[in-house]
Amino acid sequence: MKISDYRGSVKDSSMKALCFFMFEEEKDVLQSAGQEIGSILGRALSKAEFKGKKGKIFKLPSLEDMEKVTYVMGLGERRKSSSESFRSASGDLARELKKDRVPSALLILPQEPDARVSSAVAEGFELGSYSFTRYMKEKEGEPFAEIEAIQVLDGHAEGLEKGKIMACSQNLARDLANEPGNVIDPPGLAQKASELSQEMGFECEIWDEKRIQNERMLALWHVGKGSSSPPRFIHLSYMPTGEKKGKIVLVGKGITFDSGGLNIKPGEHMRNMKGDKTGACVVLGVMRGVAKLKLPLEVHALIGAAENMPGGSSYRPDDIIRARNGKTIEVDNTDAEGRVTLADSLSIASEMSPDMIIDFATLTGACVIALGNYTAGLFSPDDKAAADIVNASGVAGERFWRLPMDDEKLREQIKSSYADVLNTGGRGGGAITAAMFLQEFVKEGIPWVHLDIAGVDHYKKPFWYYPEGATGFGVRTCLQYLLDLSE
Ligand code: BES
Ligand code: MN
Ligand code: ZN
Repeated sequence: MKISDYRGSVKDSSMKALCFFMFEEEKDVLQSAGQEIGSILGRALSKAEFKGKKGKIFKLPSLEDMEKVTYVMGLGERRKSSSESFRSASGDLARELKKDRVPSALLILPQEPDARVSSAVAEGFELGSYSFTRYMKEKEGEPFAEIEAIQVLDGHAEGLEKGKIMACSQNLARDLANEPGNVIDPPGLAQKASELSQEMGFECEIWDEKRIQNERMLALWHVGKGSSSPPRFIHLSYMPTGEKKGKIVLVGKGITFDSGGLNIKPGEHMRNMKGDKTGACVVLGVMRGVAKLKLPLEVHALIGAAENMPGGSSYRPDDIIRARNGKTIEVDNTDAEGRVTLADSLSIASEMSPDMIIDFATLTGACVIALGNYTAGLFSPDDKAAADIVNASGVAGERFWRLPMDDEKLREQIKSSYADVLNTGGRGGGAITAAMFLQEFVKEGIPWVHLDIAGVDHYKKPFWYYPEGATGFGVRTCLQYLLDLSE
């Protein structure tokens, strides 16, 4: 999709549709199309009793003296609005245009589109028009409609460009996360990471199951050994060309399918566990964005990829495993596998002595129970790091909520009688005890933030700029945080 700013008169635009964004009860924006058209539209809106409520779309097939289809997109009340209002309205509108097979549109906003609003609009369009159709047969005479071009009247060119990069990086995460477990298994994920590295110029190192054992990453290896697809450890590095403002390590949970292992999940909980590699996919999406934005940071991505399967060589409840950093883990439940694999990735991350470690993981059902499906969990012993990421998430339009991890009584729940730590902590505070488990493998003194993205990783029904399926939630927040660090 080509997204650009447009300077000129509305009626000279070559776009096939005119799309007005309207705050509730503020029809003045319609005048941007000229007195005559403005009043025709105004009358049509009154007749239809369209007031510009949030999420409502008014459609006028073609105006009396104009060829173009016209849409008016409601933004809701101005005083309750933010750049997110434009992002979600753009997403809804993009899906509508796609459904109507409109190939191009000129967008007319009710306020000067500054950098932030321009980014939000570009993001809304790229994200809202996304769909995962590669396994579907095209219906005859009905190719999948794509929006080819969007122009934003008086848009901020740099803002539009930034938004496009953010959204396309998020869409890469979606493309990977939507692939099923038979297509992307651990070697398959390594292959995707290596292809991305080729394209973006990253250094890429992949360790196979032998090397993983030789490197004493036995926590990752134990989780992976029950599957006929062997585990992989993936390390990508991005080096800036000029000055360097910091060294960041991103860690992603890469369980390509989570059956639960010997503690097998019931069918309804196993559905969509192809999405258990979302943390890894988000990290790969962020890496693409970092390269496209040419950020002045050294950024590494670490992914422990494994498939959690039941079988004769699966790891078992009661097993005691020595992780890379020397600590021992007692397995209570093989379905708490993500934290076991992350233990080794976080140990490696710590050995690299970065300025910051951020991990992304579809880690716990408990996080979904605590926060629902529209807010992700954020955990960190570091107040500044936590505040900086919450702040970036506000700009990016993603919701993260910090949960505490300083509860020393709760920490007792992951004490083991036979090992340094137990891999589950019971039902109460399940998202927090999972975070506390991870903390055992992060070297003290290195700022670290854990993001639990279970529950926001996919949606069953589209809304705003979310399609059906994988969301890529977290990519924009992380990129915004890295952009903030780059200033
Ligand atoms: N991958 C799941 C967590 C999950 C649940 C992600 C729902 C997305 C949606 C994780 O590996 C898991 O199975 N966690 C268990 C932990 C329990 C055994 C302590 C859970 O949350 O039930
Ligand atoms: Mn699990
Ligand atoms: Zn899992």
